[in-house]
Amino acid sequence: MNKWIKKDLQHIWHPYTQMKDCQKFAPILISKAKGVKLYDHKNKFYYDTISSWWCNVHGHGHPKIKEAIKKQLNSLEHVLFAGFTHKPAIALADKIISLTPKNLTKVFFSDNGSTAVEVALKMSFQYWRNNGKKKKTKFVSLDRGYHGDTVGAMSVSGVDLFNKGFSALFFPSYKVPSPYCYRCPIGQKKENCNTECINSLEKLLKEKGHEICAIILEPLVMAAGGMIIYPKTYLKKAAALAKKYDVHLILDEVATGFGRTGKMFAAEHVGVKPDFMCLSKGITSGYLPLGLTLTTEKIYRAFYADYTKKKTFYHGHTYTANPLACSAAVASLEIFKEEKTLSRIGKIIPLLHKELMKMHALPFVGDVRTIGMVGAIELVKDKKKKTPFSFQERIGMQIYRQGLKRNILLRPLGNIVYLFLPLAIKENELVSILSRCHKVIEKIKPWDAD
Ligand SMILES: Cc1ncc(COP(=O)(O)O)c(C=O)c1O
Repeated sequence: MNKWIKKDLQHIWHPYTQMKDCQKFAPILISKAKGVKLYDHKNKFYYDTISSWWCNVHGHGHPKIKEAIKKQLNSLEHVLFAGFTHKPAIALADKIISLTPKNLTKVFFSDNGSTAVEVALKMSFQYWRNNGKKKKTKFVSLDRGYHGDTVGAMSVSGVDLFNKGFSALFFPSYKVPSPYCYRCPIGQKKENCNTECINSLEKLLKEKGHEICAIILEPLVMAAGGMIIYPKTYLKKAAALAKKYDVHLILDEVATGFGRTGKMFAAEHVGVKPDFMCLSKGITSGYLPLGLTLTTEKIYRAFYADYTKKKTFYHGHTYTANPLACSAAVASLEIFKEEKTLSRIGKIIPLLHKELMKMHALPFVGDVRTIGMVGAIELVKDKKKKTPFSFQERIGMQIYRQGLKRNILLRPLGNIVYLFLPLAIKENELVSILSRCHKVIEKIKPWDAD
C-alpha cells in the first residue's frame, strides 16, 4: 500500500465514512485535477461527476481563479472582518447583490454552507425579537430537506440517516411533507397534480404562523434528501404563503446556486423574492471555503440602532470573508460572464436530460429526474411497487465501486444515483460520462432482489 494512504488510515477520520470500510477500500489518493477530471497517484483519472461535493463550477485548475488567488496572496491573506474590511469582500458583495433578487441588499459573510444557514436562522429569530414579536421562536422545513451538519442546521433538516441520531439536541421545528413527486405524500397522480401537497404547509402557517420565524427551503432541488426535484409551482406557492402569514422565507441555495439548475440561482426560475438567501459551495467555484447570507434592507434595519439598545447581531467566524476566498469568488463570477457559462450549458442540458431519460428503460430504474446540470436516477427493487433497496443491501456502495472501475466518480445518496456536473463540462465528456453511468446501472446485481 502507498505510504501516504497508510498514514491516512493511521491518522485520519474522514467525513461521511465508515472508517472500517476503508480497511477494504482505502481512500483514493488524488494527486492532481484538471477540468472535470481527477487523477490519482498512479495517474488513473476519474470524472468528477459530482463536482467534488457540488462545489466545483468552472472545472479544476482554472487559470483565472488560480491567478486571482495568487495575486491576492501577494497583498493580504487574511484579516479580521470586524472593524476592518478589504476590497475582495466589497467587490464580491457588490457583484452578488447585482445578480440576486433585487430585494436582497445586504451580505453577511461566513465560511461554509452550514454557517450560512445558521446565520439566516439566527438573524430571522433575532429580527422578530428586535421587533418585539417574542412568540416567534420556531421554524418550518420540509421533512426531507437538508441544510447542513451543525446543530441548528440539523434542527431544520430531515434526512433521517444523517440527523435522527442527534434529534435530542435539536430545537423544536415543524416539518411538512416534501413535494416528492415520485412518492407523492398525498398519493396524487402527476396528471391531476395541482401541488395540493402544499396544503399541509398552509394549514400549519394558519394555525401556528404567530409562533413561526421562517420557512426554510432548498429551492427546486432537495439535494442531500435524494436529489428530489420538485415543481416550480410549489416554490411559488410556498413563497406566497410565507408572505401571507408573515413568516420569513429562507432560500438555501447552497447547492443550487451558481448555475447548477441552468440559471444563476434556482429562485430565478420562479422569480421569488426571499427574505434570506444562503450561498456557499459553488461561490468560489470550489476553490476555497466561503459562505454568504443575503438579506433585505428591512431586516437589516431591525438591527440598526444605538449600540446600547442591544440590537446588534452577535455572530461571526474567524475566517469570515477570507480575502483569498473572496478573490476566488469574484474571479468565478467574472468567468460566468467572460465564458458565457450559462448560455454554453444551455446548449448541452437538453442532451443530458434526453440521455438520462433513456435510463428509465433499465432494470431497477424507478424514476429519473432532471434540472439544469443535475440528474438523478432512483433505483428500486420493484418498479411497479417502487420498493426501495434496503439499507443493508448497500446498492450505493456497489455503484460507487463499479463507477470507479469505469473512471467515473458516482457517490449515490442511498438508492439515488446522481450527476451534479461541473458547468465546465464539454459535450464529448458528457457523452462519455453518460455512457459509463449507463453501463454501471445496467450491470447492477442486487444482492437480494426478488
Ligand atoms: C442545501 C445545502 N445547505 C447547506 C449545506 C451545508 O453546507 P456545508 O457542507 O458547506 O456546511 C449543504 C451541503 O451539502 C446543502 O446541500
